[in-house]
Amino acid sequence: MRPKVIVYSKVADAVLDWLRTQCDVTYFAGLNAQTYPLFERALAEADGLLGAGLRVDQTLLEKAPRLKIVSNISVGYDNLDIGELTKRGIMATNTPDVLNDTVADAIFALLLAAARRIAELDRYVRAGQWRSRSDEHLFGVDVHHKVLGIIGMGRIGAAIAKRARFGFDMKILYHNRSRNMEAERNYQATYCTLEELLAQADFVCLMTPLTPQTERMIGEREFSLMKKSAVFVNGSRGATVDEEALVRALRNREILAAGLDVFAQEPLPADHPLLSLDNVVTVPHIGSATHETRFKMAKLAAESLVAGLSGKLPDTLINRERFA
Ligand code: DGY
Repeated sequence: MRPKVIVYSKVADAVLDWLRTQCDVTYFAGLNAQTYPLFERALAEADGLLGAGLRVDQTLLEKAPRLKIVSNISVGYDNLDIGELTKRGIMATNTPDVLNDTVADAIFALLLAAARRIAELDRYVRAGQWRSRSDEHLFGVDVHHKVLGIIGMGRIGAAIAKRARFGFDMKILYHNRSRNMEAERNYQATYCTLEELLAQADFVCLMTPLTPQTERMIGEREFSLMKKSAVFVNGSRGATVDEEALVRALRNREILAAGLDVFAQEPLPADHPLLSLDNVVTVPHIGSATHETRFKMAKLAAESLVAGLSGKLPDTLINRERFA
């Protein structure tokens, strides 16, 4: 019998068409109040689940007694209760590597935009305020030859370090659970404590996965350790930062600026205090969002799903110990 799978996020037609040659697919281009009851009904029969961002926990799994694999179309998997999935013998996969360069590009875009005030000055030009030669009140700060501190030197962190080292002649500091010798060798990255990094970096880039250990790891104390001229960039998850402390640090000019891709609440409400500040650049969690990369991510996730359903161990298996 062909396996039954649910795709709960919008994916490219080519990926969907291929998946349909392998499985019976119930497709929801997104979940909302209308589609959720249908999704729940389909869960009762589903062998596999493919999509991005859905909280997969005990409550959901109770409704999916046949589930064998959950394939996340993202590298982060804080939306999955890995302990619960593992306990039930359900495989979990993600999409590492294919997005490294794309996310690193987006992080650099945020870093540059915050340093050179690109979004703020775009608003200035559009408002017809540009009347004379650009003057001191429009100045930003240099990025090149500065110190970049990367918290979370995984594969995306290393792609950021590469750009910083070779594109911008930056000095790289990093803090990570373990030393990344390759980054040290290739990009002259220097391992240091979190406190040392915060005190020395001109740009602090947060790239760590969200775990119970990293939740709200950057708060009032950490902002107070940063330079007053520091630019903070968050490309991890919103919950790794105490957002109220971030608003205070930006408002009181304890740090210079921030570039943010991720937020504690997504979508970010339009009346959020962060959006009242000129020294913040925001984007709607688009780190990996290019046509090419989202296609690669969906394809990889679909291939992992099919591999798992055919009794193989997908290369991207997260809870590998349970199945090895
Ligand atoms: C991921 O894959 O976890 C990214 O946050 C998506 O942009």
